[in-house]
Amino acid sequence: KQIDLGDYKHYMQKEIFEQPQAIRDTLESRITKDTVSLSAFGHNAETIFTNIKHIQIIACGTSYNAGLVAKYWLEDIAKVPTNIEVASEYRYRNPVVLNNTLLVTISQSGETTDTLEALKSVKQHHNNIHTLTICNCAESFLTRESELTLLTHAGPEISVASTKAFTTQLVSLALLSVAIGKCHKQVDKKQETAIVDGLNRLPGLIKKTLEQESQIIELAQSFKNKFNAIFLGRGTMHAIAMEGALKLKEISYIHSEAFPAGELKHGPIALIDQDTPVIAIAPNDQLLDKLKSNLQEVKSRGSQMIVFEDEMSNVTPMQNMTVMSITHNLGIITAPIIFTIPLQLLSYHVALIKGTNVDKPRNLAKSVTVE
Ligand code: G6P
Repeated sequence: KQIDLGDYKHYMQKEIFEQPQAIRDTLESRITKDTVSLSAFGHNAETIFTNIKHIQIIACGTSYNAGLVAKYWLEDIAKVPTNIEVASEYRYRNPVVLNNTLLVTISQSGETTDTLEALKSVKQHHNNIHTLTICNCAESFLTRESELTLLTHAGPEISVASTKAFTTQLVSLALLSVAIGKCHKQVDKKQETAIVDGLNRLPGLIKKTLEQESQIIELAQSFKNKFNAIFLGRGTMHAIAMEGALKLKEISYIHSEAFPAGELKHGPIALIDQDTPVIAIAPNDQLLDKLKSNLQEVKSRGSQMIVFEDEMSNVTPMQNMTVMSITHNLGIITAPIIFTIPLQLLSYHVALIKGTNVDKPRNLAKSVTVE
């Protein structure tokens, strides 16, 4: 059945603005005021999580970018070695799968052929592993093929470019990181309470960030005649930069790439000129000073810069640089989720300026069920 657009012009716009509710729905009954529920993952989740020694994440597209963030969280919070690979590569090579691996698939549709086939082939060749899917569709191939399921309750996502599915995947992966961390005795009550508190604050923080849309509409104007863009970030923000670049290329057809800011001088800096805007994400974390010196390197090449910063980051605006402050006091879990929002809005408004078909971009499909 047709889903009503209401007052929105596009499904993508509607879905961006639905994120506070989608996250509330995803958290519902999975957390209390200070605790992450283990049974939310399935009745035998606790035994499985306690036994696993490695995590392998497999996904495609935007879901892969969510997994990239999760690699940082799972190693940092749960202290379990984690690898991630795009499904179309993983399924066609002969990966070493260690005993007691938890194979995690991430998918909005649950029907992506490469992800499903990668899962099937690991299951076929290895006995001593466990499988979990983080999926937005309850009745799908992936949920049927997986031992454990955590559904993202994003609701139907119509726009080809994924938005609310991504942020609810991140929320689910945060829950997973805490759940596994608890089973491995790596997360104490204090840390659990702090993370749960951050998760509970997310809907409000996102709402506040969405209210900054008019500033982003203004920023988008400068992309009118641009054909290239570079996104920079460090740590989890590299993954968010990847998602920002993917979103921009998908719907505005601007050639956009993301790099870890520290790799700039190993090649990408050669691409930077006046016609190539650089978008950087500057959370208030231990890598902030390093990022600031990367911004200096970019500045001397005369490129136009946009920096999305935490209010506490105090990035000093330079010539050709717009600094936009996003709500402050963000933590390891909340920061990547919140910094996703301005990047979604930016790509949406650039696409409007470019006049593309926002909800159905050329050559792309919502769900890739062919090879
Ligand atoms: C397609 C969609 C993307 C999506 C990817 C993976 O490329 O256009 O938005 O991220 O497939 O889909 P999945 O349903 O597995 O998350």
